Amino acid sequence: MFAPSRNLAIDLGNNNTLLTDQHKILLSEPSVLVVNEHNHKVEAVGEKAYEMFEKTHENLKPVKPLKGGVISDGDSAKKLVRELINRTGKPSFLSRGFNYLISGVPFDTTPVEQRALRDTLEQFSAHHIHLVYEPMAAALGMGLNIKEPEGKLVVDIGGGITEVVVISLSGVAAFQSVRVAGDAMDEEIQDYFRRVHNLAIGLKTAEQVKKKIGCVFEPVASQAETYCVKGKDLLEGIPVSRWINQVELSRVLERPFQQIEECIHQSLQICPPELAGDIYKSGIYVTGGNAVLKGLSERLRKIFKLPVHIDPQPLLSVSRGVSAVLSEPVRYKAILR
Ligand SMILES: Nc1ncnc2c1ncn2[C@@H]1O[C@H](COP(=O)(O)OP(=O)(O)OP(=O)(O)O)[C@@H](O)[C@H]1O
Ligand SMILES: [Mg+2]
Repeated sequence: MFAPSRNLAIDLGNNNTLLTDQHKILLSEPSVLVVNEHNHKVEAVGEKAYEMFEKTHENLKPVKPLKGGVISDGDSAKKLVRELINRTGKPSFLSRGFNYLISGVPFDTTPVEQRALRDTLEQFSAHHIHLVYEPMAAALGMGLNIKEPEGKLVVDIGGGITEVVVISLSGVAAFQSVRVAGDAMDEEIQDYFRRVHNLAIGLKTAEQVKKKIGCVFEPVASQAETYCVKGKDLLEGIPVSRWINQVELSRVLERPFQQIEECIHQSLQICPPELAGDIYKSGIYVTGGNAVLKGLSERLRKIFKLPVHIDPQPLLSVSRGVSAVLSEPVRYKAILR
């Protein structure tokens, strides 16, 4: 019989946290919790907390410990990770301590931001605690060979941060990032409904609209889908619904998406010429939850005139990559921090 694994890979994302061992995903939950204001007890984490978001009362405080892809509330991040690990149902983790504990971290992070993540991990006793840059992990998770001297352009459009890196020889040869990603798009949708339709909607509803009919390439009007959005009329103060169509929505998403496009453009501009030649052949690899936005592939292909590969499972790439590193930490020593 095998001894229970004492190794854990963590993708502590702005919106979703995935816990994985060397073999499989143990848990995937939203990176949110709800705390009782009176006794500071955690009332709910993950999916259950997400359901309660924007529906709590004054005693219950919803908390999102990450902003812009990094920890903005250290105490809550510690609670979130502890509660989620508890829920994997693997008592060996907490009672016997970890051997390897490896977490993804955005590439464009300050030492202070990385310290906050290490503090979160150091609450557990582990022999080895390491960080892996998320775009590097995403590349591995997408099955790319990061060791060869062939430039690969990886774009990760997550919830809080978009990172664009050129990877070669297990390192990052050029990068750009912008703290504009899914959350910024949701906020833009929320703001649009307020300004144009006099309709107050929550961020969860805004995200739902984006997931259902979000589009970054203006569709032909006759083929545009529509979606019914429910919220509160700002003038009358009563619950109402409004229809939005995809053409309208593609214009709403234009501003945040232009910032993401600019980020890709800048990374190509600073990319060394030999690697640019590789990217001309291999193209752009897009991952992160927002990679599945409709029209994204067409739009990037049209703007950059490069092949575009959309990750078929963009919510999993980072955790798959970190899990691969966990399986062979010695082989991937060069990318451990
Ligand atoms: N079907 C979908 N269509 C459009 N967007 C989606 C879809 N599914 C998820 N998303 C978006 O993907 C984002 C979450 O993706 P992901 O889990 O990669 O982010 P994260 O890793 O938590 O964030 P970060 O990488 O910034 O730390 C959210 O903005 C969510 O709205
Ligand atoms: Mg991510």
